[in-house]
Amino acid sequence: MSHADPSRRWTLRGAHTEYTVAVPAHGRWLELVAWGPHGVSEGPSPVEYTGPVPFLTAGDAAPIEYATDAARPFTGADLIVETGSGDRRIGFEYVDAEGDDTRLAVTFADPVTGLRAVVHYQVPAGTDVVSRWVELTNTGPEPLRLVRAGSAGFCVPTPHGARLSYQWGQWAQEFQLDHVDLGHGAFTVGSAQGVPGHLHLPWLAVRDQADPTGPTWGVALAWTGSWEITAERDTGGLTRVRAGRRLVDGPLDLPSGGRLTLPTVSGAYSPDGLDGLARVWHTHQRRLAGERLTPRPVLYNSWEATYFAVDAENQLALARVAADLGVETFVVDDGWFVGRDDDTAGLGDWTPDPAKFPAGFDAFVKEVRGLGMNFGLWVEPECVNPRSRLYAEHPDWVYAVHGRPLTPIRNQYLLDLGRPEVAEFVHSTVDGLLRRHDIGYLKWDFNRPRTEPGRPGTEAAGNAARIDLDGAHVANLHRIYEQLRRDHPHVLIEACAGGGARTDLAMAARADVFWPSDNTGPLDRLAIQYGFLHANAPHLLSSWVTDSPGLFDPRPRSLAFRFVLAMAGVLGIGADIRHWTAEQRAEASRWIARYKEIREIIMHGTVHLVGGPDQPRCAVQYTAPDGATVVVLAWHTGRLDGAGLLPSRPVRLPLAGLDPAAGYRHGDVHYSGSHLGAVGLPVRWSADHDAELVVLQRV
Ligand code: DGJ
Repeated sequence: MSHADPSRRWTLRGAHTEYTVAVPAHGRWLELVAWGPHGVSEGPSPVEYTGPVPFLTAGDAAPIEYATDAARPFTGADLIVETGSGDRRIGFEYVDAEGDDTRLAVTFADPVTGLRAVVHYQVPAGTDVVSRWVELTNTGPEPLRLVRAGSAGFCVPTPHGARLSYQWGQWAQEFQLDHVDLGHGAFTVGSAQGVPGHLHLPWLAVRDQADPTGPTWGVALAWTGSWEITAERDTGGLTRVRAGRRLVDGPLDLPSGGRLTLPTVSGAYSPDGLDGLARVWHTHQRRLAGERLTPRPVLYNSWEATYFAVDAENQLALARVAADLGVETFVVDDGWFVGRDDDTAGLGDWTPDPAKFPAGFDAFVKEVRGLGMNFGLWVEPECVNPRSRLYAEHPDWVYAVHGRPLTPIRNQYLLDLGRPEVAEFVHSTVDGLLRRHDIGYLKWDFNRPRTEPGRPGTEAAGNAARIDLDGAHVANLHRIYEQLRRDHPHVLIEACAGGGARTDLAMAARADVFWPSDNTGPLDRLAIQYGFLHANAPHLLSSWVTDSPGLFDPRPRSLAFRFVLAMAGVLGIGADIRHWTAEQRAEASRWIARYKEIREIIMHGTVHLVGGPDQPRCAVQYTAPDGATVVVLAWHTGRLDGAGLLPSRPVRLPLAGLDPAAGYRHGDVHYSGSHLGAVGLPVRWSADHDAELVVLQRV
């Protein structure tokens, strides 16, 4: 293609990267020219193809940014639209564009149907991220149907084969980082659950197989419903990543005059492999948090200590110990409201149970606050148990398919949040709790996917009035989060979905912290957090120290290990601390005090992931923004027996990004930056020393 016309070529510039696109002379689509470090666009395009395209069309081989099925009929379109008479193959013509270095909006229109598409780009200030979304408007007289409504295609040069990194999981085993080599063909991750899900993270990384630690491109989606990311490598060596919604409820209607904005999907680039890409995402998420990137409190959560058997007495017993340890926020989890003695009943009836709080809930909250802590509460407002007053009064509020049985999961149904009256109920329930009680922290849970694609009462309209249930649910969820943040700016919100099933970039912009997994077993948790930190910044990583052995992963690890692990993000305690010995409590107090000293660096520092959870070297390095302090958290991942009893040499943790000529001090030991980079920080494991927190000061 010829990119000769400079008026149809645009370069977006990030902190260290640039992203150049152009409209070819034929005007039928927008193409990528180059995506990489500053200056990468000067020279022949690394994604342009040459040669014929036998048995294909030109668009199938071109690095198209946003492709309809007319432009890219065989190798995967982003947008497939059907007219009222069932015709497909909408084709675009370039209309105009406007933008600057960090923003671009390119408009296309289909002359036959009148569909207009504005392809938007934005580089958030100070990042190496390109955020993209598409706005569709039906300016024609006929209704249209979107059969596929992807958000974007990202093109990555992979001449020697693509190495993809993705994260899979299941309940209690989220964020498992894995890799696959893609020669030719496609690889897909996604969710049809109406929530991002435990099974895959809406995140993918791509690099060339010949350079697995070099230039790496990432794609992550901001959509809290069903989604899909597909990477497809063509015969010419280009990997194209399509990302967007998965239309689980069928095609989307776009009536005449209708407008639809598709979810934002972000692309990220780093020259430094997956580890560098993690830092690009961290910077982006820190910007998304904005002024809410405040030091996260050390919290106590009572779930694992008391489960549903919550009452004022046991919570206060826990709270007294927690306050002594230095905990700053005390969170009462599930079990505090009427009818909630186990998971078979109560969801929907969000009134504190007077039997559990005989002196009144507010008196209880006051007592917790009197201990010098903030107070937090668990809710799951989108769900309802059949055994609840809410369900008795509003059985029609749950998703249901006419004439079909409901599918209970964890004994509960899902409210159709897309209905205005349900959204009003959910908002006023949570807002009311925050207004009535002195609450400073909210844990918002969601413990089941959506199974039924139907809304009672709309059957008669049939396909003629298909409802975008997924879209409506997500839109109202986001709106309610935004309203609560605006109206209660001092309340921190933790997003949870049976662990980490609701973590995407849209939630990273609306929640203050994520609960990544119900699995707090030390070595399992290490793997979960390692994956999590590849896609998410530490301020989002909620982590508790729990009792050992706990529910999962009985492999023993010390209290120190569990503390250092939870300190890698937002430190919390979930153990039954009523039963901790004086020594355990004293040790916990020391760790909490140390965490408070370093948490600013954990929140704002430059993260390097050293080794991995299945490697002898496993650490996370956080370098303070001014480079003067370096925090290293390290864990012994191997067998504990024998360590320290035989001649050995320490494990060496190579640190990154230090000034080689500078000196660094840890206690009495001095290192050069060069030594720490080339040889590494020594850590010596033994049977009773399986974790380390090192704070290095530049001298
Ligand atoms: C699932 C969450 O992940 C847990 O932390 C806890 O809040 C339970 N739900 C409560 O039912």
